[in-house]
Formats: sequence, C-alpha cells, structure tokens
Amino acid sequence: MDKVIKKICLEDKAKMLCGYKTMNTYPIESLNVPSLQLSDGPNGVRMEDKNGDSLNGVSSSLPATCFPSGVSLASSWNENLLNEIGGAIGEECNYYNINVLLGPAINIKRNPKCGRNFEYYSEDPLLSGYLGSAFVKGVQSKNVAACPKHYACNNNEKYRFTGDSIVDQRALHEIYLKPFEIVVKKSSPWAIMNSYNKINGINASQNSYVLDEVLKKKWGFNGIVMTDWGGIVDRVEGLKAGTDLEMPGMVEHNIQEIIKATKSGRINESIVNKSVDNIIKTISRTKDHPNTCDFDEHYRMAIKAAKEGAVLLRNNNNILPLNKEEKIAIIGGLFNEMRYQGSGSSLLNPHKLSYHKDAFDIRNINYSFIQGYNASELNANKKLEKEVLNSINEYDTILFYCGQNDYVESEGFDREVVTLPDNQISLLNKIINLGKKIILVLFGGSMIELPFIENVEAILYMGLAGEGCGEATTQLLFGEACPSGRLIETWPLTYDDVPFGDKFTSSPNEVYKESIFVGYRYYETRNHDVRFPFGFGMSYSDFKYSSLILGERENEIVVSCTIENLKDIYASEVVQVYVSKKDSSIYRPFKELKGFKKVEFKPFEKKIVQITIPKEDLKVYDVHKKKFILEDGNYKFIIGKNAREELLSNTLEIVGDKIKEDNELTKKYYWNLDNLISLSDADFIEITHCSITPYVFNKKPYTFETPIGEYKSFVGKIFRSAVCGVGLRQYKKGCKMKDGPEKEREKKTGLFVYKLMPCNSLRSLCYSSSGGLSYKVAQALIEFINGHYIRGIKKLVRKEK
Ligand code: BGC
Repeated sequence: MDKVIKKICLEDKAKMLCGYKTMNTYPIESLNVPSLQLSDGPNGVRMEDKNGDSLNGVSSSLPATCFPSGVSLASSWNENLLNEIGGAIGEECNYYNINVLLGPAINIKRNPKCGRNFEYYSEDPLLSGYLGSAFVKGVQSKNVAACPKHYACNNNEKYRFTGDSIVDQRALHEIYLKPFEIVVKKSSPWAIMNSYNKINGINASQNSYVLDEVLKKKWGFNGIVMTDWGGIVDRVEGLKAGTDLEMPGMVEHNIQEIIKATKSGRINESIVNKSVDNIIKTISRTKDHPNTCDFDEHYRMAIKAAKEGAVLLRNNNNILPLNKEEKIAIIGGLFNEMRYQGSGSSLLNPHKLSYHKDAFDIRNINYSFIQGYNASELNANKKLEKEVLNSINEYDTILFYCGQNDYVESEGFDREVVTLPDNQISLLNKIINLGKKIILVLFGGSMIELPFIENVEAILYMGLAGEGCGEATTQLLFGEACPSGRLIETWPLTYDDVPFGDKFTSSPNEVYKESIFVGYRYYETRNHDVRFPFGFGMSYSDFKYSSLILGERENEIVVSCTIENLKDIYASEVVQVYVSKKDSSIYRPFKELKGFKKVEFKPFEKKIVQITIPKEDLKVYDVHKKKFILEDGNYKFIIGKNAREELLSNTLEIVGDKIKEDNELTKKYYWNLDNLISLSDADFIEITHCSITPYVFNKKPYTFETPIGEYKSFVGKIFRSAVCGVGLRQYKKGCKMKDGPEKEREKKTGLFVYKLMPCNSLRSLCYSSSGGLSYKVAQALIEFINGHYIRGIKKLVRKEK
C-alpha cells in the first residue's frame, strides 16, 4: 500500500479525501486506484440512478429490496435476523458494485419527536449496539463495508446541521457513544460516519476527543471516518482530528486547503497519507464482489422481517387473530396508500411491493373497504367521513388502518406532535361513538399517543415494515403468523411526560439534562405510568418462566431459565434480562437491559434458555478515572417480560472496584428524579462541567453557520425562499403526477428538502452541493445577505486562492 501512496501526488491525495460526484471517492486511473462507490442505507440499497433528474438522486434510485426501517428491524429483537438482512443488503451492494453501505443508523431515540427515530434502533444503547453489530457483520460478510452513523449525539433533526449537543460524560459514554462502542468492538466496521452536530461545543467532524481518543485509540477502530453529507466545517482541522473523507466533497476550496496546509506544515503529510491509506484499505477490503443476489429470496426475507418486527400492543378477549370468514369493514387511507418506509436519504425504490389489498384478495377475505380519510392529508374530510358513517352499520368488526404519514414524520424535520393526524382522530372518534369493535392497524416510525385506547379492542403496531408490509400484516391479522416484536422505546402516556420535552429543540443548544435517564431509565426509576413500557409486546401464545439460575465465570455472568410455550402454536418469545444495582455510590437507573435473546418455540415446547452477559456490559463510566469501571457489590438480575413486569430475579455479589460517591448537588437531582425537572442550567453546569454559551437568534452579521431560516434581510429572505423553493417545486410536481410510487417519492423528497432547508447553514449547503455552489460564491452570498453588496461583488470577482 505504501508503494501506491508514494506514487500519488499531493493534489490527487487531497482530491481522494474530498469525495467525488455525490456518492464516490476520487479515482486515480493511472495508478489503478478505483473509486469507492457508496450508497444509502440503511434498510436497503439506494443506488442513485445516474440518469435520474431529481435532486441529488435522492428521489430516483434503482430498484432494491426495501427491508423494514430501523424501527421495525430492531423491534424484532433478533440478532440473527439483522445479520441475515445485513447479508442480503450486502448481496445487493455487490449486485450494484457498491463498496460502502451507509448504515446502520444507531443513534439513540432520545426524544419521541425526533423525525429520524424511524431509522434508529432504540432508546437503549445495548440493544442498538448488539443489533447494529449483527447487521454490520452481515453486510461485511459480503465484502461490503458497513458504515454505522451518525457518530454521535445526533438526536434531533431541526438543528442537526447547526446544533450543539451538550451532554455530560456519563451520558455521553454510557448512552450515546455506547452503541458505537459495542459495534466497533464486536463487529469492526470498515467505515463510520460523523454526525453534523457539535458535541459539547466541537463539531463532530473535527472532535478529536470522540474521533481520535475514543474511537481510534480506545476502541481500536481502523476503518474510514467520513463526514455526513455537507458535515465538514474546517477541512484541515477535520483531518487532524481523524476525519479521513469529506462527503460528498468536490469542494475545490477544501481540496486546496489540504494542499496548502500540507505544504505549509500546518498538517504533517503523514496524516494525509494515513487517511488516503484508510481509503485504499477500504478499496482492497471490498474489491471482490461475488454476484449471488436473489431478489425474490430477499422479498421473502423482507416479509419475514416485517412479521418479526410487528408488535401486538393490545388484544382484548383475544379478538386477534381474525377469522377469515368474518365480515369486516376496513377503514382508512393507509390501507390503499400503504406507508412502509420513511422519507429522506433512506427512501428506496422497492424491487417489489406487497400491498394490503392484494394480500387480502389472494386470501378471498370477505371485507369492504371504505376510505374514510386520505393518507397524505391531515385535516378531516367530511365527505369521506360521511361515507363511512352511512355504510358502517352492517359491520361489527372494524379494521382501522392508521398512523403517521411523511408530512409529519421524516428525516430533515422533527414531529410537531406525537398524536395521530387530525383527520384520523376525528374519524376514529366518530366510529368509537357507534360502539363498534375496533382493531387498529398502526403504522409509523415512533411512539404515538393513544388517548382513545380504552375504546379499541386491539392494536397491531407494524412500524415501517418495508416492501413485504401488506403480506406480513395480513398474515399476522389472520393468525398465519404469531406476533413476536417488542417495543424498542417506551410509549409514554403523553408527550408531556418526556423529561425536558418542552425544551426539545427550543434552541440549537440542546442540553441533555436528563443525563443517563433516557427512555425507560427515566420512567422506571420514577415508577412513572406509561402507556407501554420498553420491551412490551404481546403474543397469540402464553409463556411460563421458571428456574432462574445465575452463574459467574471470570469475565461473564450466565443467566439461564426454563421457558414453556403454553399453546398449540408456533411462537417466539423475547427473553429480556435487566440488571439493578441498589448499593451503588453513583446515580443509576432502577434497572437497565443487559441481555436479551429471541427464542423460537414449537407448540407446547419447553426449553432452557441461556443468556451470557459480559462483565464489560455491567460497567459504568467513572468520571474521575475517565474510564469504565465494574463497581463492587450486589447486582440483581431480573428476567422481565418487559422493562416494567418482572418475572424472576436473583442477586449476585460481584467483586469489582470502588467508585467515588456522587457529591451532594449531583445526588439532589439524580438520586431523586422528582427533582430532576427543576435542574437549572447553572446547577447542570456545576455538576457536569459542561459549558452552555447562550444562543442568540437572528444574530447579525449572519455567518456561514447561521441557519438559513434566521435570515431576515432582504437578500436573505430571497435566498431562503429560493432554496426552499427547490423542494416546494419538486413537491408540487409530485402532486401533479399520476398515482404510484414515483409520485410518492417525488412528493416526499420535495417536502423533505423544503422542510430541512431553513435549518441548514450556507456552509453545509455549499459543502453538500458537490461543487455546485462554490465556496467563493457562497462567501459572496453571505456578504449580500448581510447587505454588503460591494464586498460581495469584490468576493465574486476575486480569483480564488
Ligand atoms: C444523511 C445520511 C445519509 C447522507 C447521504 C445525509 O443527509 O444524514 O444519513 O447517509 O445524507 O445521503
């Protein structure tokens, strides 16, 4: 490798580190150094159609299997399944000659409103890390590099480009870095993607603490670090901190910056060489592309995955599964306008699609469909509602298809509310008033408030189930398959229960005051009522647990118990092990997930299930010693049906180290969570040593970093509406197209672009334009936006240095 690098001139090295044509690295043909082909990710291959005419290729891509989104894959709690799906996606990468798959997306679901929760795995770092590792191993088993993203603390969309995630050291290491740590240590991904945001004041793409000290030195990561698209800030500082590759790149200014810095000695050429070497290493790791891709088999796998990720949330009087002979009414636009994937960079062009209607029709199911509401609208439609009310009398059982749509949930913006859209609630309430038996079939990528729950008999939550959605849903409803998914996030009663939920994205400074008390770590510690606890999910069967045994080995604890399937059906159970430590000298959640396993059972089968917990996973971050420590003392191991319901438990004394006790101020807020909500900025700063620089909105002069939505000047407003207009035009074009997947893609992508633009900065816009908006023009634009027209013109005509 050294030999090749020696032959590459500095100019070409700089180009190699700055991306090429949106989804490639720069090739050097004379030296036989090919381009790396990258592709989104994460739930299938989004191979951009080079002939497509839409924005950055986001909405036009070549057909590929659309597996369930992160939410549904993870709700399977099945490592083997994620490994298989990763392998299948790896095969499709080979089919399209893709070297790097941009996924899995393993950020923590910190707040239910985060628009991208549908792509992320869980609120729990261990679950995200183990599932992510299985996926990475699957992808890489096909000689394709996986690229876990977005490293790290990218937990909202509104300020993802410009925000600062202010997070204490324990939460940083135990919650937000943890999934990445597990993935890096267990599955050695060959690539990783930075997040856009800052972490404690320093941009992730040039944060040498998280990149160099932690990722590379502590965890031993040895692949490529790349930016998110447009995520670079200072190219040279990024390189010094450990960001090898800027994407999508082709920013001439940044290429020149690397060259200048190397020549002037600001950066040592060995750093440039190391990053080039990481790219060349990835080329050789992924150069063999066995071509064994079977799309039909992948379609079957997508159906299987969709079934495994479905969560049965309610089933009064065992109303489900349904009898095929029963006459039912199906209501809801989401039946014919199926929502099976999220919107944004993960939007795929499905190879094949199983619609609900087709799955019903091939089974000759006796049903009537009444639209009731339009899936892509939010306001009640009186005419459609009337049609339902006029024809519903003859039916006792109603299947109500409902959920989120892409206008409320997408990459690029956060959810404004976590309720069902108004049109759906309005209609549902009217049907409830008629006293019908209602079964909800629910779609969406994150928790949804369900205030009407007592008035519905059953809820089957399908998440975003991918291209096999129709078939999987129908099999589950009619008992051809048994639900076995479990929630990967807590569903609180209302959004008001979310700690610091009212402060979420109120400014680019996102202060993670709840520290490690994310999701169930908060609700279970406070014993706060929730709609559904983390890990919850029902089955058509029942299981009996008995005989818990704990064993200790040098580096691990072995937990085993006996489980029996009590019914005459094939069913799977997710065995969950939580650990509680009451005698700790530092704050701890009431319990934390430390092991899990999905187990299949034949009718009436009884099995001994064993789960091994590495002691490493029992460690906590010692802020004084700046490392993870296994604390001395008693550990209670709990087998739980979910995070709330305990089935079996036993305590074990483990020899470890002592940890310095929390100080009084820390104890005041974090040992008694009733006080947490009143934690002031000043006390947070004193406890955590984080700093919070107050954010001033609309601050002038506008800089390269100011969110575009904050421009209030004449030129600023024109510019803002011009860039937002790109998305709006695409959306309107989509609205005029004839019904079908293309229309859907065009509308979704247009809206995604329209809504994300106001929070983008000119810097990120310029650096994500693949050279389309040059640095020089962007600099001049800032002057114009600030009303400095002469300076702007001077910058425009000046030769770029
Ligand atoms: C997203 C990434 C994605 C990239 C390339 C970004 O906006 O945050 O997840 O991989 O675009 O499409």
